[in-house]
Amino acid sequence: MSTGPIKRLKTWLDEAKDKVEGNWNAMCVSTVDKNHQSDSRMVLLKQFNGDKVVFFTNYQSKKGEDILTNEKVSIVFFWDSLGRQIRIQGRASKTSREISEAYYNSRPVGSRISAILSQQSQEISSYDDLRAKFEEMKKEYSVKDPICPEHWGGIEVDIHKIEFWQEHESRLHERNVYSKVDGEWKLKYLSP
Ligand SMILES: Cc1cc2nc3c(=O)[nH]c(=O)nc-3n(C[C@H](O)[C@H](O)[C@H](O)COP(=O)(O)O)c2cc1C
Repeated sequence: MSTGPIKRLKTWLDEAKDKVEGNWNAMCVSTVDKNHQSDSRMVLLKQFNGDKVVFFTNYQSKKGEDILTNEKVSIVFFWDSLGRQIRIQGRASKTSREISEAYYNSRPVGSRISAILSQQSQEISSYDDLRAKFEEMKKEYSVKDPICPEHWGGIEVDIHKIEFWQEHESRLHERNVYSKVDGEWKLKYLSP
């Protein structure tokens, strides 16, 4: 059972799911590469593993490579219609194979084939070739089940800092920042 900021994170996500149109679970994940260059991209939050937020991706992608070099990541959610932002800092690692395979097997067959086919973040010569390969693979997998490739799976982020930003009138926004110190959450209120 989650407490403190994780409980609040889950409550805000539930409210976003109820009230926000489209990808209420979209989050911007930033990584840092071996040249200390940060890089950001959107992914979808798909589940919690205990208190860790989980998304799924190709481990050989740019973000996957970055996380191998530097486990420290940051995440931002923003819901304009709710006037809310959440900022997270944490440590990223691969989920267990069981989690990756269970989620992979729950996906539509086209997405499972794409996960096998797509060498995410690698340069390709043409999208026509990619689409042609996809059609070939669809035939191949009409008689057998696609299996979750080793290079594909979940990334879970163990949160050590999280800020809840709530918009208010006259820019008197609230910023509640929780930091984990010796396993305990400490709360600070920051000026907007
Ligand atoms: C709304 C949205 C959701 C996305 N969700 C995912 C996702 O869950 N996993 C993923 O690997 N890529 C997702 N993408 C694509 C990524 O933004 C990105 O293009 C891809 O992961 C390659 O990133 P990289 O080269 O930095 O590794 C999403 C893109 C958008 C716009």
